[in-house]
Amino acid sequence: MKIISSIDELRDQLRGQLRTAFVPTMGNLHEGHLSLMRLARKHGDPVVASIFVNRLQFGPNEDFDKYPRTFQADVEKLEKEGVYVLFAPTEKDLYPEPQEYRVRPPDDLGNILEGEFRPGFFTGVTTVVLKLFSCVQPRVAVFGKKDYQQLMIVRNMSKQFALPTEIIAAETYRAEDGLALSSRNGYLSAEERAEAPQLYQLLNEVADEVRSGHLDVFELERNAMAKLADRGWKPDYISIRKRNDLQPPSAGDLANGEQLVVLAAAKLGITRLIDNLEI
Ligand code: PAF
Repeated sequence: MKIISSIDELRDQLRGQLRTAFVPTMGNLHEGHLSLMRLARKHGDPVVASIFVNRLQFGPNEDFDKYPRTFQADVEKLEKEGVYVLFAPTEKDLYPEPQEYRVRPPDDLGNILEGEFRPGFFTGVTTVVLKLFSCVQPRVAVFGKKDYQQLMIVRNMSKQFALPTEIIAAETYRAEDGLALSSRNGYLSAEERAEAPQLYQLLNEVADEVRSGHLDVFELERNAMAKLADRGWKPDYISIRKRNDLQPPSAGDLANGEQLVVLAAAKLGITRLIDNLEI
């Protein structure tokens, strides 16, 4: 595997490649990331991964400084997956001057759910993803459904800018007890780790209620939030939304069997976890 940090060298290395499959990451790779590499392999060749902890998508009080950085271990994992190039730019490589041009998702998608609780987050994500796409020029790029809203925003961006990159969605990779794998799970104490699968459990309970015809979404959301709070969590949201645009479903949508997803974000101790489930 070639490890490349400069944009010019990356372009030289990938010149002429028309079927590149790309997996952008922030490192601290776990099985979830590796499943994205395997899916990428099915959709293209060569597979290119990136590791870059993108300052632009962290708020001032978020965990940019303590975000886990495990470069050597990541390299070994990617080598085993047969990744052709790891693009690992430094901040100077990717942002040699302050990144003044940014991609701002529309407010009705970028400022809801995660965007409401992490202002500027999606602008940081789309800006770096567009820049990474411009460096790698992939035919396909793989994003996990765990970051459901991110996946939708990146997919819409690619479509609206007519980028030649198709966005492939990967199913969420879960531990045996249901917890969605995430680099931030490493912040959990042993006790919190034992409690953490309750988030997915609760999403399943909400989904079951909806499937069995309980369509008062506000009541379901309120009850689910209260349940989490009773267990010591600090929920930001548990929200039932339409799958196609992440807006709340109207009574008519519910009556017409609109496809739904329930999304959640909650803090357990100092760790903020997100998850979702298509209903
Ligand atoms: O999902 C992530 O790890 C990041 O948001 C991404 C897509 C690599 C952009 O920094």
